[in-house]
Amino acid sequence: MSEISQAQPDYNYKVVRQFTIMTIVWGIIGMSLGVLIAAQLFAPALNFDIPWLTYSRLRPLHTNAVIFAFGGCALFATSYYIVQRTSQVRLFSDKLASFTFWGWQAVIVAAVITLPLGITGSKEYAELEWPIDILITLVWVAYIINFFGTLVIRKTSHIYVANWFLGAFMLTVAVLHIGNSMAIPLSFTKSYSLYAGAVDAMMQWWYGHNAVGFFLTAGFLGMMYYFVPKQAGRPVYSYRLSIVHFWALISLYIWAGPHHLHYTALPDWTQSLGMVMSVILFVPSWGGMINGIMTLSGAWHKLRTDPVLRFLIVSLSFYGMSTFEGPMMAIKTVNALSHYTDWTIGHVHSGALGWVAMVSIGSVYHLIPVLFAQRSMYSTKLINVHFWLTTIGVVLYIVAMWMSGVLQGLMWRAVNADGTLTYSFVESLEASKPFYVVRFIGGVFVVAGMLIMAYNTYMTIRAPKHSLGEEPASAAA
Ligand code: HEM
Ligand code: HEM
Repeated sequence: MSEISQAQPDYNYKVVRQFTIMTIVWGIIGMSLGVLIAAQLFAPALNFDIPWLTYSRLRPLHTNAVIFAFGGCALFATSYYIVQRTSQVRLFSDKLASFTFWGWQAVIVAAVITLPLGITGSKEYAELEWPIDILITLVWVAYIINFFGTLVIRKTSHIYVANWFLGAFMLTVAVLHIGNSMAIPLSFTKSYSLYAGAVDAMMQWWYGHNAVGFFLTAGFLGMMYYFVPKQAGRPVYSYRLSIVHFWALISLYIWAGPHHLHYTALPDWTQSLGMVMSVILFVPSWGGMINGIMTLSGAWHKLRTDPVLRFLIVSLSFYGMSTFEGPMMAIKTVNALSHYTDWTIGHVHSGALGWVAMVSIGSVYHLIPVLFAQRSMYSTKLINVHFWLTTIGVVLYIVAMWMSGVLQGLMWRAVNADGTLTYSFVESLEASKPFYVVRFIGGVFVVAGMLIMAYNTYMTIRAPKHSLGEEPASAAA
C-alpha cells in the first residue's frame, strides 16, 4: 500500500465521520428490530395487534435496515476513506459526498416510514417503492462519480486492490438495482414489476443473489483488503492472489442466482447451471479468505492483545464458513432438504452477522480514533467484551438455526408406510420453538455488544483531541 502517514493531503474526513457514526446508529436499530422479530416468532403477541408492528412488515424493515442502512453506511464510510488514503488525494467532490450522505439517510428514513405502513413492491431486498428507487439511483450515480473521479485524479501510480472490489461493487449494484426495479407505477405508492411469472422470479434472484455477491461480499472484501493489512501492520499476503480472487469472484457470482429457485417453474437447465456455478464459487471465495487470514503470517501474536484484529480475522472465518455452506446448499439434493427451512436463515446470518457485521465493526473500531483525532479507542477492554458478546451471540444464532432447519426439513419429508405425512406443519413449528428462544438470546448478546460500542465511541469522541489523521497505536507497528 503506497501510503504515508505524515504530511497527508487534506482528506475529506467529514463525510467518513458522518457515515461511520450512522453505521453504529443503524446497526443498533436494525439489529434491535431483528431481536424483536426473533421474539415475535415464539411470542406472536409482541405485535400488540398493531398492523405496523406485525412480523410481515417489520421483517423487511429489519433486512433493509441491516443491509442498506448499517451495511450501506459502513461501505460508504470505508470506501470514501480507502479511496482517499490509497489515492493520496482528497475526494473528487465534497458536494457530491454530502449529497450521498443526506440522500442515503433520506432513503433509509423513507424505508422506515413506508415499510411499516405496508407500502412495498414485494420483491425481497428491493421492497422500496418506485419514488424511493429513483432517489437510490441518483445517490448511487453520485457515489460512483465521486469514487471513480477520485481514482482518476489519484497521485499514486497504481490502483490498490481494495478499490477494485469497491468499484465492482458500486457498478454492479447500479446495474442490478436499475434492472430489477423496472416497474409500471400505478400511483405514487404502488407499482407493478415490469416482468411477469418465471422471468420476474429469475430477475429477482439474479438481483437477490448478486446483492449478496456484490453488496454483501465484494464491497466488504474491499474493506477487508484495506483494514486487515492495516490493523495487522503487514502487507497483504499475496497481491497476485488478490487479483486472481477479484476476477474469478466477479465473473462467477453473476451466474449463481438460480440456486434460489431450485425445483420451481424455472427451466431445469438454468437451475443446474446456477448449481454448478455456485459450487465453483467456493474456490475464489476461499482464495480470498485464505489471502486475508494469511496476511497475519508473522503477526499471529497480535491476536492475543488486539480485539479489533480478532473481529477482522473471525469475520473471515465466518466468511469461509458461509461460502463453504452456500455451495453445498446450492446442490439440488441438499437444497431439497434446506430450502424453506431455518437452515437458510442460519446460513444468511453466518454470512451477514458473522462476516458482514464483524468485518464492519472491526473496520469502524480502526477508523474512529483516526477520524476523531485520538490515539486509540477509549477502552480496549470494552472492545474485547464486544468481541466476545458478538462471537457467542452469532454462534448461538447460527447453531440454533442449523438444528431447527435440519429438524424442519426432516419432519416435513417424513412419510408413513401408507404415504401420509408423519408430522403436521404445526408439529414442526412446535419443535422449532426452543431454537427460536436460543436465537433470540444470541441476538440480545449481539445488540448488547453494539450498545457497548456506542458507549465506547461516545467516550472516545469526547476525549481531548490528539493530532488529526494518525493511525491508531495498534496499527502503527
Ligand atoms: C441481532 C442481530 C440479528 C437478529 C436477532 C436477526 C434476526 C432475524 C430474524 C428473526 C429474521 C427472520 C427469519 C425468518 O423469517 O425466519 C432475519 C432475517 C434476515 N436477516 Fe437478520 N438478524 C440480525 C442481524 C442481521 C444482520 C447484521 C444482517 C445483515 C447484515 C441480517 C440480515 C438478514 C437477512 C438478509 C434476512 C432475511 C433472510 C432470508 O429471507 O432468508 N440480519 N433476521
Ligand atoms: C460461495 C458463496 C455462496 C453461495 C454459493 C451461496 C448459496 C446460497 C444458497 C444455495 C442459498 C439458499 C437458497 C434457497 O434455498 O432459497 C443461499 C441463501 C442466502 N445466502 Fe448464500 N451463498 C453464498 C454466500 C453467502 C454470503 C457470504 C452471504 C452473506 C453475506 C449470503 C447470504 C445469503 C442470503 C441473504 C440468502 C437468503 C436469500 C433469501 O432467500 O432471502 N450467502 N445462499
